[in-house]
Amino acid sequence: MNNIPKLIDIETHRTEQSGSLSVIQSNTHLNFPIRRVYYIHSIEDDKARGFHGHKKLQQCIVATSGHVTLSLEGYGKTYSFELDAPNKGVLVPAGYWREMSNFSNDAVLMVLASDDYEPKDYIHDKQEFYAFDANRTNVEKVGYLAMHRRYEEFRLQLQQVTEEVLDETSYIMGPRLEKFEESFAEFTGTKYCIGTGNGLDALEIILRASDIGAGDEVIVSAGGFIATLLAVMRVGATPVLVDCTPWGNINPVKIEAAITNHTKAILPTHLYGIPAEMDEVRSIAQKHNLLVFEDACQAHGAEYKDGTCGALSDAAAFSFYPTKNLGGFGDGGCLTTSNEKIAQTAKKLRSYGAAIKYHHEIVGFNSRLDEMQAALLQFLLPYLPEWNAKRRELASLYLNQLSVIEEIELPVVHDHSTPVWHVFPIMVPKDKRDAFCNHLTKNHIGYNIHYPLAMHLQPCCSHLQYKAGDFPVAEKLAACEVSLPLDPYHTTEEINFVIKAVLAFFEHESAKN
Ligand SMILES: Cc1ncc(COP(=O)(O)O)c(C=O)c1O
Repeated sequence: MNNIPKLIDIETHRTEQSGSLSVIQSNTHLNFPIRRVYYIHSIEDDKARGFHGHKKLQQCIVATSGHVTLSLEGYGKTYSFELDAPNKGVLVPAGYWREMSNFSNDAVLMVLASDDYEPKDYIHDKQEFYAFDANRTNVEKVGYLAMHRRYEEFRLQLQQVTEEVLDETSYIMGPRLEKFEESFAEFTGTKYCIGTGNGLDALEIILRASDIGAGDEVIVSAGGFIATLLAVMRVGATPVLVDCTPWGNINPVKIEAAITNHTKAILPTHLYGIPAEMDEVRSIAQKHNLLVFEDACQAHGAEYKDGTCGALSDAAAFSFYPTKNLGGFGDGGCLTTSNEKIAQTAKKLRSYGAAIKYHHEIVGFNSRLDEMQAALLQFLLPYLPEWNAKRRELASLYLNQLSVIEEIELPVVHDHSTPVWHVFPIMVPKDKRDAFCNHLTKNHIGYNIHYPLAMHLQPCCSHLQYKAGDFPVAEKLAACEVSLPLDPYHTTEEINFVIKAVLAFFEHESAKN
């Protein structure tokens, strides 16, 4: 994502007595740790240098003295920078051809580099560089996700964080977790965030901390991922399903008919990163004196009216499973709440029922977000708004360009919601889904189905005695949904490649009729 060269101002402090001091810090000013520094100087007049590309190396180039012109080429574009002051630098991302010219006699060019010297990282031949560049921009296949690119971009910084945590030798319930909990609570606009081992545990802990158990009923959307239901069943309560809106979120119109004397809470999911209609849900809950929780496991940063998902109810669960909008490097989760009682009980529940070590007040379990995950998530969190914006930008390409296809249905979002497109779902006619998916595969396009069997028809729910036909909207979603590639690290070209393939399939289909 960060592949555009950029001129930066280097933080400079000046005093009358002692001149100027300029500072470059990896974490604050660069997107990479500095592994190597070299400088170019004593250049004879009119000598040009460079004439090579780097595949992975990232650099920050500063003329600490004199003047030089830096020309860069990559991703089909050219850039030129005049470097003539020690408080200016150019960030050169990986994969650019570079040439330096117009050196003044006194030029000293300092290069801060992200890696050690590695001959294999160089491309010396310009034609070879063009082939490398074209290979990156020519799309021949599109993976469902592009998570490896995030890792490539931040590889060195993530490794640095990992090393720091290893060195600290405090691996569970330490300062890294505390810091992340503070940051994520602030991000969602809640008072408390409590890290857990995963999203399912966060849901279960919320229910237990709210005294929901055997004999109680919790209303859940029939569209969605099984974890929401499993959490209710794991605390011994009964999930009561209501049919969903076409895109899987709970249909508020169906809720009141499902309320009984045993109902304790409503637990909507913000499925695919699209906020559920919380105002309607909350007003029904208020009328019947019920708690409201959110399954926000797919909705990090999604907004509904004036609030952020995670702050729209009594408590919310998040997952940091690697593919999530804020995904870690293993399992992880948390709950957010502004309810002190839920927060305090949840803190005990996640750690053997103890608020003070070895003093076990309640029957808890072991479900904690470890220091390594917390530290890595803390590093990633500031990028989440940018990634979500990119998801929205790519989703709008789909929404605009696929709307001409009469046979498919595209997700509908209310103006008062800002989704985060954890998934970009479309619905295709159910008798064409297999052929459509085969077409994507033949065109080397990844896809997913969320989810092929509606929850009420899953074998693990058979004791609830639902049957086919009970929730027609959820069943239709299960039969027709296809998730198209969407990742903040996908390029516009890649999404356009998918769009072209989708259009081609349906043009061919309509030609058959
Ligand atoms: C809607 C929803 N709820 C709950 C979960 C459970 O999260 P985890 O996998 O971290 O347990 C997920 C994760 O896939 C999810 O998508």
